[in-house]
Amino acid sequence: MTGSLLISSLSISRFALLLNPSLPLYRSKASSLRRPLVSTFLLSWSLPSKSLSTVPSASSLRALDSSVHACDREDLIVLGIETSCDDTAAAVVRGNGEILSQVVSSQADLLAKYGGVAPKMAEEAHALVIDKVVQQALNNANLTGKDLSAVAVTIGPGLSLCLRVGVSKARRVAGMFNLPIVGVHHMEAHALVARLVQRDLHFPFLTLLISGGHNLLILAHSLGHYVQLGTTIDDAIGEAYDKTARWLGLDMRKGGGPALEELAREGDPNSIKFSIPMRQHKDCNFSYAGLKTQVRLAIESRNLCIDNIPISSATLDERRLRADIAASFQRVAVLHLEERCQRAIEWALKIEPSIKCLVVSGGVASNQYVRTRLNHIVEKNGLKLVCPPPSLCTDNGVMVAWAGIEHFLLGRFDAPPPANEPEDSQYDLRPRWPLGEEYAEGKSVARSLKTARVHPSLTSIIQGSSPQA
Ligand code: KG4
Ligand code: ZN
Repeated sequence: MTGSLLISSLSISRFALLLNPSLPLYRSKASSLRRPLVSTFLLSWSLPSKSLSTVPSASSLRALDSSVHACDREDLIVLGIETSCDDTAAAVVRGNGEILSQVVSSQADLLAKYGGVAPKMAEEAHALVIDKVVQQALNNANLTGKDLSAVAVTIGPGLSLCLRVGVSKARRVAGMFNLPIVGVHHMEAHALVARLVQRDLHFPFLTLLISGGHNLLILAHSLGHYVQLGTTIDDAIGEAYDKTARWLGLDMRKGGGPALEELAREGDPNSIKFSIPMRQHKDCNFSYAGLKTQVRLAIESRNLCIDNIPISSATLDERRLRADIAASFQRVAVLHLEERCQRAIEWALKIEPSIKCLVVSGGVASNQYVRTRLNHIVEKNGLKLVCPPPSLCTDNGVMVAWAGIEHFLLGRFDAPPPANEPEDSQYDLRPRWPLGEEYAEGKSVARSLKTARVHPSLTSIIQGSSPQA
């Protein structure tokens, strides 16, 4: 790939250019061309930016927001592509937040069959459907590639084999229609989609991102400037939901998390005494490996040989026991979230007293019990909970398109790739890519975090303080 998908620093000249309302961002609707004036942007890329590598403040971003005319935003149409894990997703979104289409092809059947995401198989499944999913997204929006302004695609974190399928497709579309391309951070997209749903959600805010592979507490200062207050030292909560669901013999075709949430409604959450993880560590990090072990032991000690007996074949007593385990697991898994969020809110308010919201997103945020419990914590602290609807919490193309739109409006995009780029090109993929730098006072002593081959964080790249790998 030529150059990086993200510009390493923001040039004030380009920033000023964007703020100048006399310069249209896109050709007007009347000209029927909705493509941005790429050459205008590209010219400013070559300007020296050494001393200008600052991230704009929240207030200047608000000024930028309002300076971009509503009609300009409406004319911006972005295709978002997501293939970082086990969902192949694409969507078309307007700059004003209007969702024109959203298509998701899930690999739930594969998951149910093999018990987890096998990278090679997931790659093949993505490759099989990616063309269809993207075409469907364009068809549903009643558009063709010619109508697009840019293509946004997840470049990390995730499985490189899977990321590659999406990036390759995005570059083919962008190359064919001469479109700029925006490389998107998957977890940032989970957080930013809350700003599509709630348009008055301004920076700074606190965000809890909970998915199959990540548990993050992030202080979002401004677009591209994040501080990591906490992360998981082993497994993420979604992984714990999925494993517990599998051990309880649930139907994994609807997803482990949703199946477990459903069964937990029948159970007594106080029947089994699991201990809450990491209470002795007064930080904002997470751990779910120990809770998984506790669940496994609870199943074994009750002589529940349920690995191969689906819940549908269980006796009434057996079903009740499984429901009790599900409910007790969920109670403690979420109590761990509650405790860490309470501390994170205290830390965040000390750093940024103007924070008003906790954004909760990622697949596990679609869980109703999680939402209700976190809402109590947030209200107790005088804040507001912002949770995207479930279809925008689990992996989707809308969040990628929207994150692309947000960065595109700040001039952070890559030039259109060549139309005839070879299929075997090397792409800039970032399988292990932190969102922000760790909060110095929040570093855990209980660390088993793997740090090998970690890409410099999104924030450090944008601030230009760290060399790009
Ligand atoms: O964000 P996501 O769709 O994909 C990743 O980036 O990992 O999150 C997927 C995770 C899975 O572990 C899935 O079981 C979990 O989110 N999940 C849920 C629920 N819906 C999805 N967990 C608990 N309750 C749910 N309702
Ligand atoms: Zn995700």
